[in-house]
Amino acid sequence: MNAVAKEITVDPEKLSQASELEKMVIKGGNELNGRIRISGAKNAALKHMVACLLTDEPMHLMNCPVHLGDIKMQAAVLKTLGAEVVLREDGLAMIHTPSIKNHVAPYDLVRRMRASVLILGPLLARCGKAEVSLPGGCAIGTRPIDMHLDALTQMGAEIKLEQGYVKASAPNGLRGAEINFSKISVGATENIMMAATLAKGITIINNAAREPEIVDQGEALIQMGAKITGLGTAKIVIEGVERLNGISYDIVPDRIEAGTYMIAVAMTGGKVVLENTRADLLTSLIAPLKEAGMHIEEDGKDLIVERNGVDLQGFDIMTEPHPGFPTDLQAQLMSLMSICKGAGMITETIFENRFMHVPELIRMGADITVHGNSALVRGVAGLTGAEVMATDLRASVALVLAGLVAEGETVVNRIYHLNRGYEKLVEKLSACGADIRLA
Ligand code: EPZ
Repeated sequence: MNAVAKEITVDPEKLSQASELEKMVIKGGNELNGRIRISGAKNAALKHMVACLLTDEPMHLMNCPVHLGDIKMQAAVLKTLGAEVVLREDGLAMIHTPSIKNHVAPYDLVRRMRASVLILGPLLARCGKAEVSLPGGCAIGTRPIDMHLDALTQMGAEIKLEQGYVKASAPNGLRGAEINFSKISVGATENIMMAATLAKGITIINNAAREPEIVDQGEALIQMGAKITGLGTAKIVIEGVERLNGISYDIVPDRIEAGTYMIAVAMTGGKVVLENTRADLLTSLIAPLKEAGMHIEEDGKDLIVERNGVDLQGFDIMTEPHPGFPTDLQAQLMSLMSICKGAGMITETIFENRFMHVPELIRMGADITVHGNSALVRGVAGLTGAEVMATDLRASVALVLAGLVAEGETVVNRIYHLNRGYEKLVEKLSACGADIRLA
């Protein structure tokens, strides 16, 4: 870490305005060859940041993807609550919340980033009250937060919905409870796990999510002094403690970013070394890619990904909670499948509306038919460049991948989605030979 690394400024207004005007222009046809350093996981970092609200001591998060729009937005949310937040160019996030000065996360910030709903658990646990604007729908589905609210109610919180806000209070503090989630939810598991660390007594979460980002968050909480067992299993048990302390923590690598570049190489051909990653977090992608004809090999913290000449065969995939195939790689896989030999069926079981990329891929020449929550993708000989627009982060990057192999020029609009979740995408891809630029 560099002691004089520059501080990054956080201005929520500028964040969304500037990037809405930018486009990404890609000329397809180049192989990818080189090295790509994988950033810390966005979906872990966002939760580590809110977990900082649980302690009055300083927290140092390392390997934090500080350049991402979502991370800057989360920093803005924490600042409104009274946290001192410094994001540094070298991936260090320093967060210190000596006291909670305000317990309201306003609509203007929450509407831009759904993960702000995760402040409910920590704020209730730390100061007994929290108000968060209801996040509303988003492009990939309605995404309710009923499970978060029901579980917090079971832990003794009183919750009202008023004027578009969730108003929660726990005047006598939160108490442990046995929570039986009706379905597997990443966010609800995290919210309750954080709340339970400072609750009185024992909380049991049944049907808990097992995503690596939750395990990472739980491990950080344990280092902060929390008592948690069962991480990575469907039953997490948390025994509340009086207080938590500040720590320095190295955030787990982003498996979705790594998986995205792995799929990119599968599409373009070439050989790329993914640095700072973990193959054990990506088995549900690596296994079928190897079967389809890719060469993927672990070398310490590096992953060597290679496709030399061979045509890949299409295969079937169904998205599922971890350790199943992640919904956050579904769109990218569809881009790959659209140029594989033969056909593949992709079934989305997590979100009800996560096929928004399909019409755009079809405009680039893909042969895809959607039946309910399944998409039949018949491989075509090649894609052609087009002007496209995407509605969410993973759909946007799927179009970038398609552009890397399409004949001619692809222009991706609304790239603010990409800035939310892929650090230095243009730099990373162009360093490996892609013809890609911002315009
Ligand atoms: C997290 O969202 C991720 N976001 C998503 O990544 C990811 O796609 C998703 O988990 C699934 O892996 C972050 O970590 C910030 P859920 P989350 O609660 O926690 C339903 C990306 O591209 N549900 O596991 O919001 C819900 O509607 C993003 O990086 C309820 O019904 O997802 C969905 O169908 C997009 N009630 C299912 O559960 C609830 O109270 C799983 O959602 C909560 C969820």
